[in-house]
Amino acid sequence: MKRLFIKTYGCQMNFYDSEQISNLLSSSGYSITEKSEDADLILLNTCHIRDKAVEKTFSDLGRIKKSIQLSDKKKLKPIVAVAGCVAQAQGEEIMKRSPWVDIVVGPQSYTDLPSLISKVNKVEKKKLINIDFPTIPKFDFLEHDVKEKKISSFLTIQEGCDKFCSFCVVPYTRGPEYSRSIESVMMEVKKLIKRGTREIILLGQNVNAWTSRDDRGSLITLGNLIDEISKYDEILSIRYTTSHPLDMDLKLIETHQNNKKLMPYLHLPIQSGSNNILAKMNRKHTVDDYLKIIDKVKKYKPDIAISSDFIVGFPGETDQDHSETLELIKKVKFESSYSFKYSVRPGTPSATYEKQVDEKIKNVRLQELQSELKKHQFVFNQKFLNSKMSILILHKNKKNQYVGKSPYNQTVIIDEKLESNQKYLNKCKNIIGQMIDVTIISSFQNSLEGKFSLESLG
Ligand code: SAH
Ligand code: SF4
Ligand code: F3S
Repeated sequence: MKRLFIKTYGCQMNFYDSEQISNLLSSSGYSITEKSEDADLILLNTCHIRDKAVEKTFSDLGRIKKSIQLSDKKKLKPIVAVAGCVAQAQGEEIMKRSPWVDIVVGPQSYTDLPSLISKVNKVEKKKLINIDFPTIPKFDFLEHDVKEKKISSFLTIQEGCDKFCSFCVVPYTRGPEYSRSIESVMMEVKKLIKRGTREIILLGQNVNAWTSRDDRGSLITLGNLIDEISKYDEILSIRYTTSHPLDMDLKLIETHQNNKKLMPYLHLPIQSGSNNILAKMNRKHTVDDYLKIIDKVKKYKPDIAISSDFIVGFPGETDQDHSETLELIKKVKFESSYSFKYSVRPGTPSATYEKQVDEKIKNVRLQELQSELKKHQFVFNQKFLNSKMSILILHKNKKNQYVGKSPYNQTVIIDEKLESNQKYLNKCKNIIGQMIDVTIISSFQNSLEGKFSLESLG
């Protein structure tokens, strides 16, 4: 058996891809190792979204070179492969800058890996690059094998992006929007269920742009797919990410109201609270459009938790624009959010925009924004003190505590050492993978602590 070491950077879709790559290569005789120094094949599955992510790839490649030079001369040198979005965007450059890299594959062409691996040492290195966007999508070649039992599993249903926000590399690295057929998705759902999955997280760069055709040839959208998946008794919880404001259709909103297995949580990035900046970002929606969508979703599902992504320091962003973003946060009171300093991405339209914002100003704005976001997250978590929630128990952590997820995507810790929890656990042993009633006893910035509700034992 040969050994494969994979390091994954970036979004959940990249993590999904890494699982598929490891499945694919297990058919070529590779099993996973956690130690890069033991590996026969080192694969970096990279991210190009911000400059820092790219820097990490190149510094890791430097470390790999050193470890190869230092390693036992009698041992065969490991094959080094770079996959993912940096491979797509800078494949030729990687080969030039890091000649110890043997293979470069893009996010849509990694199904070619077994063939490329068989060619290492046989052909000129520069030929071992495949960054095509194939006409037959990769999903048709993957076995979607599920090896490991996972209570909560990612499932990519949509890839690529046609939106072309002016700051973003994704349309170039992942290619145009593509949706997997419902048949292909449901086949994978069944495999996941067989392996013990209880929660499915549907993934896509614009997951709510997913469409397919039903048996009668009618167009179906994400809400229909969620209804279909929820018919399986084994599936207790369904989530999706990341959605785009322009693709929030009525069916999806109604599904939040009607489908109990769809969790009351919506990650809906807005990026900025200023119409002026949104226009320059080519987001194709205004702040008002966004607020109207939130109002509508809340009308159908009043308790839904909303989170977002923000970019500070986009070219031309003024103090006024920044305070409008802070105002928006105060208005929506996001449950939690991701926020980033604008990073210039070569080849994207905004890289050439005038009035790039000074790094120091970006730092100050990011801090202000994050402290505002934190306040709302803290208050949101506090609201749940002494209340009861159904928690999906995922696993045990290193401290031997149970870790679960609330319907609103909060992490919930349940400590075995607590006396009442021990009583519960004496009666119910196999709780991992179950949805269990928990009373919240403490709330923190990023998590909650709970105890099992003894009355639910009857
Ligand atoms: N498709 C999703 C998000 C994809 S990228 C959407 O449209 O919402 C994830 C996040 O990275 C984005 O929401 C954005 O906030 C951030 N991001 C993308 N490009 C960036 C850049 N050049 N600089 C800083 N942050 C960026
Ligand atoms: Fe990037 Fe915009 Fe597409 Fe999201 S919608 S992936 S931010 S281009
Ligand atoms: Fe990064 Fe590519 Fe995902 S750029 S965020 S790995 S789509």
